[in-house]
Amino acid sequence: MNTRDKRIKQQKMGRIFDAKNKVTLATSDCLRFLRQIPDNSTSLVVTSPPYNIGKSYERKLSLQKYTALQARVISESIRILKPRGSLCWVVGNLISKGNEILPLDLMLHNIFTSFDLKLRNRIVWHFEHGLNCSNRFSGRYETILWYTPSDTYTFNLDNVRVPQKYPGKRHYKGPKKGEYSGNPLGKNPGDVWVIPNVKANHVEKTVHPCQFPIALVETLILALTNRNDLVVDPFMGVGSTAVAASNTKRRVAGCDRISEYTRIARSRVRLAQSGDLKTRPRGKDIHVPDPNSKLLRRD
Ligand SMILES: C[S@@+](CC[C@H](N)C(=O)[O-])C[C@H]1O[C@@H](n2cnc3c(N)ncnc32)[C@H](O)[C@@H]1O
Repeated sequence: MNTRDKRIKQQKMGRIFDAKNKVTLATSDCLRFLRQIPDNSTSLVVTSPPYNIGKSYERKLSLQKYTALQARVISESIRILKPRGSLCWVVGNLISKGNEILPLDLMLHNIFTSFDLKLRNRIVWHFEHGLNCSNRFSGRYETILWYTPSDTYTFNLDNVRVPQKYPGKRHYKGPKKGEYSGNPLGKNPGDVWVIPNVKANHVEKTVHPCQFPIALVETLILALTNRNDLVVDPFMGVGSTAVAASNTKRRVAGCDRISEYTRIARSRVRLAQSGDLKTRPRGKDIHVPDPNSKLLRRD
């Protein structure tokens, strides 16, 4: 892309919500920000909220206060959602002092259903790296809860199909005998997604301690929305949702209450728009070590 094309691709980025903006990124408390967005305007609310585990960007609350706050954000998110829209919450486990785990999806599910939302998938996001535990099995997954307010909702499966394992397989009997049996566009990706988490030398890593990978949110956006639809992330962090929405030609609005993160989010979206942001592409195979690597052997 030459400099002129890059300039044309740079779209106006607002700080206050306006439905005409391609991108709105604000430094704000999420409840205050969501109130700017009209009812029935949004096709997808997708986010990874603070997990209440004492990260640098959150105030640790009692469980009761944490769930009450989540309920308020969920309620506002439902208000802005279109009837055919979707809501996706990416969550992990709370770990207490006694090393007891509390899966946040288990805890939050009752809140979602109290608003009459219907759970469509509980997607398991599996990754291979993280803290090593010595007194229980190391945690290697988070979950994505996908809810819809209605039984009629956007689901563009063809946008996210993955290659068939045996594309050459044919029907061996019946009227279709001899024809290929699998969909030529690929198969349904299923509800277990293996995507590396953004740690250490991942190409998408910024200063944020808990980014989600762009490929993860891009898959949700492609499947659950159409071009030019509005996608909202109330806990935007460094803008992984904004980058994915911008790459897939959706409008996006999001906020984070830490201005450094919003500044990084804006810069990442600008780089994405000019084709200069390095990302790990959706569908890229998981790294397999070179069999000759010294790291595979001990003397
Ligand atoms: C798990 S991180 C989200 C990371 C994001 N998915 C990304 O890829 O960068 C949660 C974020 O919520 C922000 N946050 C916490 N409480 C907030 C609030 N009340 N309003 C807005 N943002 C908040 C934190 O600063 C943090 O960046």
